[in-house]
Amino acid sequence: MKFKIAVLPGDGIGPEVLAEGVKVMNAVGTRYGHKFTTTDGLIGGVAIAAQGTALSEDTVKMCKKQDAIMFGAVGDPRYDDPMAKVHPEDGLLRLRQALKTFANLRPVKLFPELIEATPLKTNIVKGTDFVVVRELTGGLYFGKPKRQWTNAKGRHGVDTMIYSEQEIDRIVRVGFELARKRRKKLTSVDKANVLQSSRLWRQVTMEISREYPDIALDHMLVDTCTMRMIQNPTYFDVIVTENTFGDIITDEASTLTGSMGMMPSASIAGIPAEGVRIRGFYEPIHGSAPKHAGKNEANPIATILSVAMMFRYSLALENEAQAIEKAVEDTIKEGYRTYDIMSPGMTKLGTKEMGDVIAKKVESK
Ligand code: IPM
Ligand code: MG
Repeated sequence: MKFKIAVLPGDGIGPEVLAEGVKVMNAVGTRYGHKFTTTDGLIGGVAIAAQGTALSEDTVKMCKKQDAIMFGAVGDPRYDDPMAKVHPEDGLLRLRQALKTFANLRPVKLFPELIEATPLKTNIVKGTDFVVVRELTGGLYFGKPKRQWTNAKGRHGVDTMIYSEQEIDRIVRVGFELARKRRKKLTSVDKANVLQSSRLWRQVTMEISREYPDIALDHMLVDTCTMRMIQNPTYFDVIVTENTFGDIITDEASTLTGSMGMMPSASIAGIPAEGVRIRGFYEPIHGSAPKHAGKNEANPIATILSVAMMFRYSLALENEAQAIEKAVEDTIKEGYRTYDIMSPGMTKLGTKEMGDVIAKKVESK
């Protein structure tokens, strides 16, 4: 089959890790006889430097014409000033909004060989395997009013946590559908003891649950969830939550996998269903890590696993997705590591070399 893929490397280590993602995608092409035509686009700090905006409308248009979008990272210390008019992160937010990718899937899976890389006790983290479904185009990130102003009492700032029934409905369904394919357990995370938007969230979730009698649903307050995740991470199967809570708990969750460099993500514009191609973009959850940029040391596995998710959700090619996941698993089993997951006796590789090992496995199976 033939596919058109947008490639948005972004800032810092983004270009380095994404090059490995493209390498692995092409290895899938070689093995399964698919052809990929890629189009590059600018996003983040590099786009600000070249075009004055973190994501141009031309790039948005280009992305809309593709079968899927691969994305590296955004963030550049040159634009960190909170008073700056444009921020590299604006590009990512614009992309989420423009592509209507309301569902962000973030698998949290600990490879048994990486237990040493986590700061937590083995008996606690062993077997960690859950998915966070984060709402991505609503809540505090986008709600209006959103502004700063000054009056006689001084300066003020406001962001608005707002959700409509429709927004909650579609994201919760993503959670239920994923749970159905897994261990049939869904935890909806909210702050219903305080927030009105959370109370609506909980009501809508309970209503939808009637359509999913096979799924065990529970509700957890977000503060409790952050604690439970560290105390007993194997409790979770699928978590569904709003935008900001999802942002916070997935950084926390990354510590369970040993490294941010192991956490892929898919941002999709529909509810997953077998054989259905959904528009989406695919990126590691880590940032641009400027300290590690240009050194060929960043871990490309999060990006490569994101490419697997691209095959699954946007190209509807499940075997290809699993071939990548298997190649990553075997690579780790054979003792190959980047610096962030290195432990004594293992073989340390750079970004490119890690990509080579995985690509070769994908091709040769
Ligand atoms: C993430 C990131 C982004 C977010 C930033 C870079 C805007 O932290 O994808 O988790 O807050 O959503
Ligand atoms: Mg985040």
